[in-house]
Amino acid sequence: MRVGVCTGGGDCPGLNAAIRAVVRHGTLHHRLEMIGILNSINGLLEDPPHFRQLGLSDVSGIFDRGGTILGTSNKGSPFKDAASTAASITKLKKSWRSIGLDALIVIGGDGTQTMSQQISASGLNVIGIPKTIDNDYTPTEISIGFATAVDVAANAIQRLHSTAEAHSRYMIVEVMGRDAGYIALHAGIASGASIILLPEIPYSYEAMLAKINERGTRGRKFGVVVVAEGAFEKGQKPIFRSSATGTLNLGGVADEVARQLHTRSGFDTRVTVLGHVQRGGDPMPSDIILASLFGVHAMDLVAQKKFGRVVGLQRGHISDTAFADIARQTRCLALNDSYIHTAEAIGICLGR
Ligand code: F6P
Repeated sequence: MRVGVCTGGGDCPGLNAAIRAVVRHGTLHHRLEMIGILNSINGLLEDPPHFRQLGLSDVSGIFDRGGTILGTSNKGSPFKDAASTAASITKLKKSWRSIGLDALIVIGGDGTQTMSQQISASGLNVIGIPKTIDNDYTPTEISIGFATAVDVAANAIQRLHSTAEAHSRYMIVEVMGRDAGYIALHAGIASGASIILLPEIPYSYEAMLAKINERGTRGRKFGVVVVAEGAFEKGQKPIFRSSATGTLNLGGVADEVARQLHTRSGFDTRVTVLGHVQRGGDPMPSDIILASLFGVHAMDLVAQKKFGRVVGLQRGHISDTAFADIARQTRCLALNDSYIHTAEAIGICLGR
């Protein structure tokens, strides 16, 4: 068998560890030939297709490196409507035949796995591996990249306390996560935030001011507010801004919160936007381990010819789910999530 692997969507720490696990297990134990498709699924839409051989030496020493040796893309979708989907599937099938591919392992988040699902539905052999710092992909309770993103964010936020205290300021930190608050909630708990604003809980300034006042009565005239990029005020909508290249992205909510808190409380405020540092750099050990677990299970599914499935972790155990059984692609924090309860139980204000 000739098996392809590709990485799609925004990069995150742990992708190379997953590629390495797939290639090592496929080569050493299943005796399969491995190739890497370049620049996400897009590599198969090129004529001739863009790919490279992946032998053991090609994945040597990459387990702890950030980024992806195969490149990735999160721009546009070759599957955005019925016409482009049909055209892309035709091109893909042609490349598939010309390369002599028997199966493809796609490492990606919800957007990329939606494409995997469509490719699988067209009759091709596909297996998905979930990655996303946002941790918002339904078939798994944890995705590759999330733990490292939380670690990076928490370490950065912890550094803001001393400067906030020195200047008697409130520091407002914006973190990634799109419509899910996992990074904000976990990094906020880990870094001693006073207030965490989540997309799942529309916030009110009254609640935040009550918390700021309560801290004031204890002599704490500073603090850190962690804001998820998708958080929004009760009755309002999430805030977007256009990038230098013209795309519209979530962003700017920290500026708005800083302005409002300054006006309403009189405290000096400053904004830090962590941005892509949360996606860059090398993975921490738990992401390398998760990527290895997912990579090996994906390759075992290929060897058993159990296609059309995405691997994941459920209740701490390796699992796999048929693409057809995934009801919703994205998941958000449930309001009865024990981490939400924990945050409020230790006195963190969630803006409600
Ligand atoms: O989905 C991952 C993510 O990092 C989000 O948290 C963020 O909103 C988005 O990607 C940023 O994407 P881009 O790479 O286009 O800036």
